[in-house]
Amino acid sequence: MYRMSAKPMITAEQIQTRVKEMAAEIKESFDFDIILSALTGAYMFTTDLSRAMASAKHRIAFIKASSYGSGMESCGKLKVTGLEKLDLKGKRVLVVDDILDTGNTMITLVAMLKEMGVSDLRSCVLMNKEERRVVDYHADFVGFEIANEFVVGYGLDFNEDYRTLPEVWTLEEV
Ligand code: IMP
Ligand code: MG
Repeated sequence: MYRMSAKPMITAEQIQTRVKEMAAEIKESFDFDIILSALTGAYMFTTDLSRAMASAKHRIAFIKASSYGSGMESCGKLKVTGLEKLDLKGKRVLVVDDILDTGNTMITLVAMLKEMGVSDLRSCVLMNKEERRVVDYHADFVGFEIANEFVVGYGLDFNEDYRTLPEVWTLEEV
């Protein structure tokens, strides 16, 4: 059995403040054409971030990337759908995901995008669990460095629950 921590690990207010800071930093340093967001986990972060960068004209597209079957452990093999319909050749792409964990999702996605001929690419994640990394990958923009804990809320789920919460919580075994 699992339950949510008594208090949020990151409050909604802290998230909103950080998202605005990140939006300003990205707008200043990367002139991008399109945000490519990985569903489902990144949906909330992506909409907030995109809205905060509205003055920098951009398009938005979503793909589905899944490596977690159910529960907390990644099954390792990444399944990506929706990429084949997009024409990203020559485009400057900002890849957005919720969290960088083992790094498998990002490293695979980035390789696929390079293969498709994107002209420039930067990655952005709300959270980074550096300790969990198994591949050599660093995101260009990181919202929060967090410890090796399983987190839910603000788009992130545990077996599809908790996604719609506006703050980030840790999940504890009871
Ligand atoms: P990676 O490929 O191992 O880096 O995993 C990235 C994906 O796993 C993220 O896009 C999330 O969907 C999911 N994930 C990793 N850590 C967590 C977590 O703590 N809570 C919920 N989902 C997670
Ligand atoms: Mg994900």
